[in-house]
Amino acid sequence: MQTISIRTGHPYEVLVGRSILPECGAAVAKVVAPCAAAIVTDDTVDALYGASIEASLRRAGFSVSRIVFPHGEASKNLQTLAQVLESLAQAGLTRSDLIVALGGGVVGDLAGFAAAVYLRGIRFVQIPTTLLAMIDSSVGGKTAVDLEAGKNLAGAFWQPELVLCDTALLSTLPLNYRLDGLGEMIKYGMGFDASLLSMLRSGEWERDPEALVARCVAIKEAVVSADERDNAVRQKLNLGHTAAHAIERCSGFSITHGRAVATGTALVTRACVRRGELPAEALALLEETLDRCGLEKRCHFSAAALAQAAMHDKKRRGNRITLILPDAVGSCRLSPIAVEELESFFADGL
Ligand code: NAD
Ligand code: GLY
Repeated sequence: MQTISIRTGHPYEVLVGRSILPECGAAVAKVVAPCAAAIVTDDTVDALYGASIEASLRRAGFSVSRIVFPHGEASKNLQTLAQVLESLAQAGLTRSDLIVALGGGVVGDLAGFAAAVYLRGIRFVQIPTTLLAMIDSSVGGKTAVDLEAGKNLAGAFWQPELVLCDTALLSTLPLNYRLDGLGEMIKYGMGFDASLLSMLRSGEWERDPEALVARCVAIKEAVVSADERDNAVRQKLNLGHTAAHAIERCSGFSITHGRAVATGTALVTRACVRRGELPAEALALLEETLDRCGLEKRCHFSAAALAQAAMHDKKRRGNRITLILPDAVGSCRLSPIAVEELESFFADGL
């Protein structure tokens, strides 16, 4: 098992291992003395893992309730949040008690936000069950729900007490969601760690998923501990995301986020190569990695459609938008651009 220490204002550890969840209760009890614990999860994850997590927490001395909502992004809203908060109150959770967020990014974001606001803030533990949640959403303290006006528009920074990543859970994860996680992993490789990209290209992912998950968590740790509140360097985690959000929107959201991030990262890398800002080898390495992981290198939407879709991007500030672009394999930079220039930039990346 690997342990990564997260050095945010409220520090905590991320444990990454295989088949560690049967003993999760004991691991949680090391950081939170046994108390009342509410497992917040979705119906799919509850059916797969809810009972065993509850049993493990009970063995460690916690009294446990379970709060279950329907799976999917459609549940990540104020209505579900209100239901979860009411259920926490009905279960009698007090300020010294605990929420256990068991699930993918939807559960982690919603349960984390519930933890941030219930009784003005109680402790929570993240048990991520998707690859994306293990390497990204469970670490760094961003919690949120969606509003009618857009994704993640109501939220809080609220760090957990512990994150437990058990890669054995990925065996039940459908392929599409696995690809979402791999898309984000490739982003970490291209933007922060050339050797991670090489490992993904050589198939290391299949051989040693724990090592790669731990590596991604360590990258995220370095970024969020330098800029917990997302004022500067943390924005680099959005490499390829402006193009990705546009691709998602143009596809009517049939292309999911992580897969769009993979294609968006290829698009901006290709544009940088065509503009003479990057050597062609950088794109070749990225494209070979995308092929190896079964991810799309190219999108089939026009530059005009992508530029139009990018106008909805939350990162737009008036007439300008900050793109995150690779400046070498394993390194990236913030690059503000006028929105009128987006179409020709995207055209270079198609
Ligand atoms: P998700 O939480 O919707 O999970 C995907 C699906 O897989 C769900 O239907 C879920 O029930 C199912 N599932 C989860 N684990 C499973 C398992 N082990 N076996 C079988 N099925 C399983 O999606 P996601 O991709 O994990 O998360 C996406 C969300 O994460 C978005 O809302 C996004 O905004 C958010 N996010 C947050 C951050 C952050 O920093 N807070 C970062 C990235 C993404
Ligand atoms: N997923 C982006 C961030 O945590 O900042």
